[in-house]
Amino acid sequence: MKLPHILSAEQFTDRKFLDTLFRVADQMTQLDQARNLPQVLTGKILACIFYEPSTRTRLSFEIAAKKLGAEVVTAESGKYSLSAVKGESLEDTIKIISGYVDAIVLRHPQEGSAELAARVSAVPVINAGDGGNQHPTQALLDLYTIKKLRGSLENLTIAFGSDPLHSRTIRSLATVLGFYPQKRFIFISPPSLRAAPEFLKMLRGRSIDIQESESLTDGLEAEILYLNRLQQERFKDPQEFEENRKKLILKSEMLRGKKVLVMDPLPRIDEIDPSVDVLPNAVYFQQAKNGLYLRMALLQEILGQEEG
Ligand code: NCD
Repeated sequence: MKLPHILSAEQFTDRKFLDTLFRVADQMTQLDQARNLPQVLTGKILACIFYEPSTRTRLSFEIAAKKLGAEVVTAESGKYSLSAVKGESLEDTIKIISGYVDAIVLRHPQEGSAELAARVSAVPVINAGDGGNQHPTQALLDLYTIKKLRGSLENLTIAFGSDPLHSRTIRSLATVLGFYPQKRFIFISPPSLRAAPEFLKMLRGRSIDIQESESLTDGLEAEILYLNRLQQERFKDPQEFEENRKKLILKSEMLRGKKVLVMDPLPRIDEIDPSVDVLPNAVYFQQAKNGLYLRMALLQEILGQEEG
């Protein structure tokens, strides 16, 4: 049987899979409030193997697993603590860990690392970010948030900023949204951080009107303004990061009279002034909370089957 690895947002072509996840995430939210969560992962062990920093992704996966009865083992600073320090290959490390646990959540700076891991793993691998490439579970929680707040994943105008060149969350979310008919995607960035031409070409091939802009003002009439910090760790030239980091900052006065929902996978660095947080447009904290329930639904889907 093919293992249900979650490696890329390209996998999420099945609308029924998404609808089921969203429905289960809604149920998990209610059951958690009632303190009555089903212990469907009892006896399962999840490994969270992170070679890059994380707050929301790792902790929400761990908490999601624990709330459903699983046990969790973690390497939160894999780069320094695992045998990678001694020169062990990622493949060997994953081969070993996959013999101990029931699923692996992996974050690694190398693009394609999750696929590499999946090839040698005896258990499902969930990609929690592979370099600047993909962050599929973030896309799932972003879609869940959009569906909850906008009611639909179709015919939307969405603006993405401010580092479409390096942001794996923008890449993953735009990829899945591109499977549905959309009005327009507006990619907002400083000139040197524009999305890769082949990525835009792929989206244009899906009949989406693609625009590019250097101003946040162009995103204020959209239904969603999806911002992500400049991905400092992916810049080859630190000077370039410094030159661009303060160019695009969303301020509360810009949102006066606007209905646009502001999303951000977080962490927020410079891209959203904290004065925005109190506005009804700001949904990024709710978005992060949704991630917990979406990840519960996903873990149940991948690991909880036999119990069901
Ligand atoms: C994102 C990531 O790691 O790509 N964070 C997250 O998982 N919520 C966004 C980011 O780090 O900018």
